[in-house]
Amino acid sequence: MNQPSTPAARRAGATAVHSLNRFVFSVPDLGAAVDFYKAFGLDVRETAGRVDLHTHGHPHRWGSIYPRRGGKRLEYLCYGAYAEDVGPLVDRLGKLGIARTAPHPLADDDGVWLADPDGTAIEIVTAPKVSPATMAPDARPPHLPATFAAPARSKAPQTRPRRLSHALLFTPDVPRSVRFGTEALGLRLSDRSGDMIAFLHGAHGSDHHMLAFAKSDGPGLHHSSWEVATIDDVGLGMQQMADCGYAHGWGVGRHVIGSNYFRYVRDPWGSFAEYSYDIDFIPAEYDWPTADHPPEDSFYVWGPPPPDDFVVNHETAVRAAPIGQAA
Ligand SMILES: [Fe+2]
Repeated sequence: MNQPSTPAARRAGATAVHSLNRFVFSVPDLGAAVDFYKAFGLDVRETAGRVDLHTHGHPHRWGSIYPRRGGKRLEYLCYGAYAEDVGPLVDRLGKLGIARTAPHPLADDDGVWLADPDGTAIEIVTAPKVSPATMAPDARPPHLPATFAAPARSKAPQTRPRRLSHALLFTPDVPRSVRFGTEALGLRLSDRSGDMIAFLHGAHGSDHHMLAFAKSDGPGLHHSSWEVATIDDVGLGMQQMADCGYAHGWGVGRHVIGSNYFRYVRDPWGSFAEYSYDIDFIPAEYDWPTADHPPEDSFYVWGPPPPDDFVVNHETAVRAAPIGQAA
């Protein structure tokens, strides 16, 4: 059952989804997906016909992956809402002239279906809030005098993300996607850089962004981002992925917008999975001072330069094929 909203996890008067409940995509080789996300530190569960992405020790299913010929393709995004918000959300969709659609062919639960302006399927379900209600405490143990703090390399623990933080999507029209997110879903604009990139947070409290858009020649999934407990986990994650053959990526570095420390690891299909630590948190009732940041001063505070392929959208050609086609 969906828990009722609480004052700390509800913005008064806001009709809005509260969480990015699940992202669903398809790839040509499920075995490659299992290998990649297991190495990344997720609890990867193989079921009949799909692979589910969980985080260890957390009951929620954050992602599902299906087989499909061709390249990787974002299939749909599912947003969670409080039960009390679903009816008003549907009413508002009607007032905005946004049509309800048939469920996506890969749908596996019962929600409200629509399409975003790029044609990507969107589902709204009544679900528990899985975006954070508070800022996570710093999990790094104190470094005490007369102690040896670093583990031996062979004893370093595997980095295991705690939860999904956000997804960044490509879109040909960032302002249009922002309007859809704010008007239809009730998300709030956190920050942007011109018409090139924009970051949205949940009205009922969330990370600085649960959804972001970057300009491209078409829609697509650029990266999923996963919260880890310490800055050391970001570096250890980079190392564990390199040791498993996934050395290509960007970071370690620190973003300006969102403030998080990052390491992006390139997946087998040319998109990325991000280890993220210490992203800004926006409480439910806080009016974040939205700003338009100059790109040269807002991409990252420090870190190596991003690789040349960091913003290549590999889905543009793939999306010409029929939705949900099985491999
Ligand atoms: Fe990110």
